[in-house]
Amino acid sequence: MKQKLYPDSGIELNPFISKHYDGILAVASMGRFPRALKSAIGHMEIQPGDSILDLGCGTGYNSQQMAESLDSTGRVLGLDISEEMAGQFEKRFAGDHRLTFKNQRIDLPFSLDRKFTKVFISFVIHGFPHEVRQVIIQNARSHLLPGGSFFILDFAEFDMDLMPPLHRSIFKAVECKYAFDYIKRDWKSILRGYGFNQFHEYHFLRSYVRLLEATQIPD
Ligand SMILES: C[S@@+](CC[C@H](N)C(=O)[O-])C[C@H]1O[C@@H](n2cnc3c(N)ncnc32)[C@H](O)[C@@H]1O
Repeated sequence: MKQKLYPDSGIELNPFISKHYDGILAVASMGRFPRALKSAIGHMEIQPGDSILDLGCGTGYNSQQMAESLDSTGRVLGLDISEEMAGQFEKRFAGDHRLTFKNQRIDLPFSLDRKFTKVFISFVIHGFPHEVRQVIIQNARSHLLPGGSFFILDFAEFDMDLMPPLHRSIFKAVECKYAFDYIKRDWKSILRGYGFNQFHEYHFLRSYVRLLEATQIPD
């Protein structure tokens, strides 16, 4: 594996985990995780002609669910830095011109040649130091069309000390230190600082997971 950009992060996956990522999540959660994902993506109310930017898209599993609601004019662009993920994404969508992959670091400021109706990030943003998360939010903000929505599917805000002991020990065993910090923050307040002023949220998996939709509605 290449040297990690953030050695303490848990989201830069090794080649084996990357290759089997979807299957590992499905088996480890006994099917609950894929069901929660499907339900979360349903709440995004994807329109046939939407253009969606998927930050840290992984294997393309989520992009595929989103693409089910698109017609031939809809688009998904997935960004990721993993060669293994790129291979799976491109194989999954071979021949489907609506979905494309770009090798792109999302933790640095970047500028694409177009903007999107929706920007989506799933189980990625928790894995960065907080100052880097702010760069990611800025990247999302700058790639949204007016009235577009930023969707964060990730851990909800909760107190680890109040978790049942079994859940707490699993969370502590599998997650990185950045996730412990992520769950303590007030994400609506953070996003307000970037101009987002309307929020919807949906909870899954005993409320440990949340889809947060943030939109900027002009006054
Ligand atoms: C935990 S996986 C989540 C994948 C996908 N979003 C999902 O929900 O199935 C984290 C993903 O973030 C990608 N990633 C990590 N650091 C990144 C970075 N700096 N820029 C872009 N992608 C990154 C990883 O390669 C991996 O595919």
